[in-house]
This record gives sequence, structure tokens and C-alpha cells, in this order.
Amino acid sequence: MCGIVSILSFEDDISKKLIGALERLEYRGYDSAGLAFIDKNSNLQRIRSVGKIEELRRRINKITIKSNIGIAHTRWATHGKVTEGNAHPHVSNGVAIVHNGIIENYQELKKKLLKENFEFESETDTEVIAALIAFHIKNGNNFEQAFKNTILELKGTFAIVAIYEKETNILLGAKKGSPMAIGFSEDERSYYIASDAIALSSLAKNIIYLEEGDIVKIEKQDKLNYTIFNSSIHMTKRNIIPNNVSLSDVSKNGYETFMLKEIFEEATIVRNIYNNFDYDINISDLDSISIIACGTSYYAGLLAKYWIEDIAQIHVDVEIASEFRYRNPVIFSNTLYIFISQSGETIDTLCAMRMVKELGRKTLALVNVETSSIAREADYMIKLFAGVEIGVASTKAFVVQALSLLLLCVKKQDFKIDFLEDLINSVLNNKYQLSHIAEKIKDSRSFFYIGRGINYPIALEGALKIKELSYVSAEGYPAGEIKHGPIAIIDENVYTIALAPFDKYFEKTISNTQEILARNGKIILITTEKARDHLHGLESSKNVYCVFIPDSDEPYTSFPLITVIHLLAYYTSKSKGYDVDKPRNLAKSVTVE
Ligand code: F6R
Repeated sequence: MCGIVSILSFEDDISKKLIGALERLEYRGYDSAGLAFIDKNSNLQRIRSVGKIEELRRRINKITIKSNIGIAHTRWATHGKVTEGNAHPHVSNGVAIVHNGIIENYQELKKKLLKENFEFESETDTEVIAALIAFHIKNGNNFEQAFKNTILELKGTFAIVAIYEKETNILLGAKKGSPMAIGFSEDERSYYIASDAIALSSLAKNIIYLEEGDIVKIEKQDKLNYTIFNSSIHMTKRNIIPNNVSLSDVSKNGYETFMLKEIFEEATIVRNIYNNFDYDINISDLDSISIIACGTSYYAGLLAKYWIEDIAQIHVDVEIASEFRYRNPVIFSNTLYIFISQSGETIDTLCAMRMVKELGRKTLALVNVETSSIAREADYMIKLFAGVEIGVASTKAFVVQALSLLLLCVKKQDFKIDFLEDLINSVLNNKYQLSHIAEKIKDSRSFFYIGRGINYPIALEGALKIKELSYVSAEGYPAGEIKHGPIAIIDENVYTIALAPFDKYFEKTISNTQEILARNGKIILITTEKARDHLHGLESSKNVYCVFIPDSDEPYTSFPLITVIHLLAYYTSKSKGYDVDKPRNLAKSVTVE
């Protein structure tokens, strides 16, 4: 959470590059943003604003910036409200810093610095870092040494970049727990430190991902140089790799929003993962599989549990990473531990994985970002091939997470990938019906998503998507469970989305929808064509609206259902006039606990 970008350059106006890169990082947080630079008279200048980056851009467009060193930040608030005063960069005595993460010992450090007469103007944990660097400079250290001393005193997680107005040719960065990359422009006239390669698409030809505890110094003399120090402050080398994130990966390609583009990619990326799936992982000898993840990735694990237990007859546990890592879980020897993460940076999933590794077990990660921390630290990795996902709500990644777990337990040559593509395409072609339904349901007081068996994890995913995009409460429930309490909520102001393809659970789920109708609830029934003859008049009830998808059996049916619930959440949010790509209070990459 929070996005960082910084530059040291031979060019004169670095602000446009910083703002462009910051906009590509907006998915990491967008409640406020800011930029600091050192002008030609060696004065530190700072501009900050509350709200999305376009507001910062507006302010910057009104002034002329002549500078070749700067840092910028887009915030997702942790400590301190969303105000201009809490927005980064934070400044102390000519030092400016941007930070992603949480400083756990900031209170203690602040007390010490207050005694030294340092002043604080924000409610953040971050400001203490700028003051601590300034404190070490005051005690006779140069900027580099003061920065290193500071980093060694910080507890918590961070990616930090700092500049100092009295040493204008040095940019310093440090990474512990939060991602950070160095980027090099093709002409070698600009070097960058940023949160990820997405920020640096079109700016950096090559990049280096820093490792845990690394500190980087970028220096400008007659040319630009960089030095990396490891956590023991010894000089070290890290691999330089090409930055293969292109501008088209991070553009909407004609779609109105990233989220819509990404839902439409669900039909094509299933082939990417299918074509590239040649992993030699034999699960048949395992006693069990344990899947650990957060949010939507966790639901992909839950979905796969049904397939793996059904097809491969292997017991599967699925756990939420933030719970798993803080209990004392029993770790089995013949269990495969799978960690799922789109971003590969979710801190709870990463720490849960580290815990399992420390206990001596091998780990398999399913990740979309192959250069991410989880991808790099796992013993084995399955790349998801979903392409860059920018919309904050995960959609296409969920589809390929589920499919790759399915491919672990079916024979690839027997899998009907063409058929799967057609099924998803048929839902995409039906988008107008779903946008029409969204108009009907948008004022619902709350939502229930119900399903039985394998449809239940999809109900959970549907409820999460509509909740995060439309800001109303929504619950996913096993259809058979609603009469054990939740049905009390049902009245004429509540819509239930019933996931009931014509499968072995169909009749039972239909009975549950009848129970809801009997209490004046309203139903959107998502079912398959075959069910038409078995609805017993349900479809003509004024409180029922049916969506029919083409017939198929498991494991195929789940996929078009997923696309339906993604489109429904998308259009509901759109019809309420919300920002679907950047829903309020959220950030895509959850790098804090
Ligand atoms: C919901 C959503 C989140 C993420 C969760 C895990 O739409 O996107 O629930 O799924 O934050 O993120 P990753 O998969 O990056 O670990």
C-alpha cells in the first residue's frame, strides 16, 4: 500500500515523469498524494493534495518546476487521517522522505526526538523517519551515513526514499518488507527508485528488485552511479533484469475502465495459463494440501478445494493468511503448502509463507507478478499469466488462480479449453442483460449471494466484489445455511443473488430461493439453460429475474458463473456512479498488516 517513485536525472523538469509514474501507482492507494523536489537554488519544495493524483497534477501544472531530483508518493492512510498535513513527503530540516509501510517503534523514536527539540506537524509514523535522518545529520554525519543509521534504528516494514537539500546529487532508498525497485532509463540520463516495475514502464529499460534489508544510493557526478548495500551495510550486487511491463499493459486499450478490460480478458487468459501449464507437480502421493491466501485469492483456494477433493481425492485445507500466521498451526510432513497471491506482495501471505519455510516445509506459490516477493521467496512458483491487473478489485486473476489449481488435478489433454473460452465469451456477450439487472438492484439495502457446493465459494467472491465496489453490505452464504439466522434480514429491500446451475444441488437451492420469496425477498437467479424446464413457474414471479448461461458440467460451469458475478458487481457500481477502478478506502497491494 502506498506508492513511491523518485528520480535523479540530468534532465531539468522531473515533475512530469514523477506524476506520470505516480498515476500508474495509484492502484496502491489514492487518498492523497504529494511530491518534493530540490530546486536550482538548492531549496526543498513540497506540493501535496488530498484526493486522487489528478488533483496533485492540477496543482503542479500551475507552476514551473526546474529540478533534477525529486520524490513522490500516493497514500493509503494507516497512521493519521486523510489530510494534506498527513500526506507524504514528510520533511524535517531540509530532509524529505516518502514511505510505504509501518514504523512500529515510531512513538519511542518520536519521544527521543522531541527531547532533542525536533518538531512534528503530522499524525503519521512516517514523519519520525525524516526527523531521525535530520538528527543524525545534526550530529555530524553526512546524508548517506545519517540515512544508514536511521534505517538500522527502524522497526517495522518499509520502503523509503529520501533526499536532502544540502546534498542535491544523492537519492537514497531502503527496503524491508515493502517492495522496491531501481530503474535505469535507456539513455542512462535518469535513474529511479520506485515501488514496482509498473511505475517505471516507459521510463526504465532495466530494473533491479531490491532484497530484504537493502539500502541503495544513487549518485550524480559526471554520470549516474548506483551502489547497493545489504542489511549488514556491505556493498552487494543484485541482478539487473529488463523491465518488461509495457505501456499497453498498463493502459485501458479502449475500455472505459481497467476493471471492464480485465473482466473481458477472462475469456482469453484462460488459454494463457492452459498453454503455459507444464509443471511437473504430482499431487497424487500427498496426504493433504494446505492453501493459504487473503481476500479473493483465498476464495480461489476455497473453490479449488471442491475440485481437488472431488477429482484427486486429496484432503484440502484453506486458510486466511492473517489467521494462519498468528496461530500455532500443526504442520504436516506430506502436505503441500500453496500460497496464492495476485500481487505477490500481500504481507500476511508472504509472512505465512516464510513461517512455513522456517518450519522446514517446501512452499508453492501461485502468483501473477513473477518478480514479486512471494514469487522470489517460494520454493516453487506457478506463474498465473493474467497480465498486469490494475483494477483494485481482483477479477481476471481469480479466474486463473482457480484454473491453475484445477489443472493440478485434471489431465491437461482431456481439458476442453475451447469450450471454456466459449462459455466465458457467451457471458461477456450477455453484458447488456447484466447491466440492466444492475440498474434494478443498485438500491438494494444489502445483498445475499447464495450457492451450494462449489457455487458457495463463488457466492463469497460475488459478495466481496459487490461490497467493495458498491459500498453496501453483502454476504455470501451456503444456501442451506440462511435459515439458521441470516434469513431474518430478508425483506422487500434486499436482493439475493442465487447461484443455481442445473447441477446436483439445483433443487435444494431453488427451495431456498422459495423460502426467501415467501418473505418478500427479491431474487436474481443465475442458472443454466437446462434449468428452464425445472423452474416450476419461478421465472414468472414478479420478484424473480433469471439469467441463463449455456449448459455445462463441473469443472466448467464455475467459470461463466464467475464472469457473471464480476460483471454484475461492475455494472452495479457503475450505475451508482462510483469509481470502479479505485473504490474508496482500498488499495490493491496490501503490504501492511
Ligand atoms: C478483492 C481483492 C482482494 C485481494 C487480496 C489479496 O477484489 O482484490 O481481496 O484478493 O487483497 O491480494 P493478493 O492476491 O494480491 O495477495
